Amino acid sequence: MARTPLVAPSILSADFARLGEEVRAVDAAGADWIHLDVMDGHFVPNITFGPEVVKAIRPCSDRCFDTHLMIAPVDPYIEAFARAGADRLTVHVEACTHLDRTLRAIADLGVKAGVALNPHTPETAIEYVLDRVDLVLVMTVNPGFGGQRFIGAMVEKIRRIRAMIGDRTIRIEVDGGIDPETAPLVVEAGADVLVAGSAIFRRPPYAEAITALRTAA
Ligand code: DX5
Ligand code: ZN
Repeated sequence: MARTPLVAPSILSADFARLGEEVRAVDAAGADWIHLDVMDGHFVPNITFGPEVVKAIRPCSDRCFDTHLMIAPVDPYIEAFARAGADRLTVHVEACTHLDRTLRAIADLGVKAGVALNPHTPETAIEYVLDRVDLVLVMTVNPGFGGQRFIGAMVEKIRRIRAMIGDRTIRIEVDGGIDPETAPLVVEAGADVLVAGSAIFRRPPYAEAITALRTAA
């Protein structure tokens, strides 16, 4: 049965000139986690920020810093993000040649590990690493930009992953095009963490936008 999902505002859609204030604002507005989109202009066609920015905004919130690494290679950078204050590091299947090793390295640093799937990647790609993660991130758009349209075929993928997970304690996070219209579809299929950029930062007041997502789901 569907539970009330966690809401994780993606600061990709925040005002970067006032990033610290924006993080404080969504924290005060009831965000469960803060979603940090790290992009390298190589794995994805956009560039955002690195560990120094994570470190700079760390004092602005005690919430989980849910760090989505859209970078390749990823291994050389995981320690820097862990030291900067990330609570969770989620890496892409498509960016990791030795995914099992990368997930172990994240756990060895004392932070939580998640694994992300691009829209075209079948759920079977993570079958043998499920015992190394407590979060699966299903991309519901192609990663790189905020404000894209939700890909409906991902609802079935979420349902299949929920079945694969069985009785393990693993969350399913969805990222891309999540708003009060799409949230109920993904939660019904088994998602329990909603990432939202545009649906929060472009629809102030933030507290109302966050509540709208939770109640719609
Ligand atoms: C996309 C990022 C998302 C993005 C979502 O590559 O991973 O976190 O910010 O933005 P919206 O909610 O606007 O689709
Ligand atoms: Zn993201």
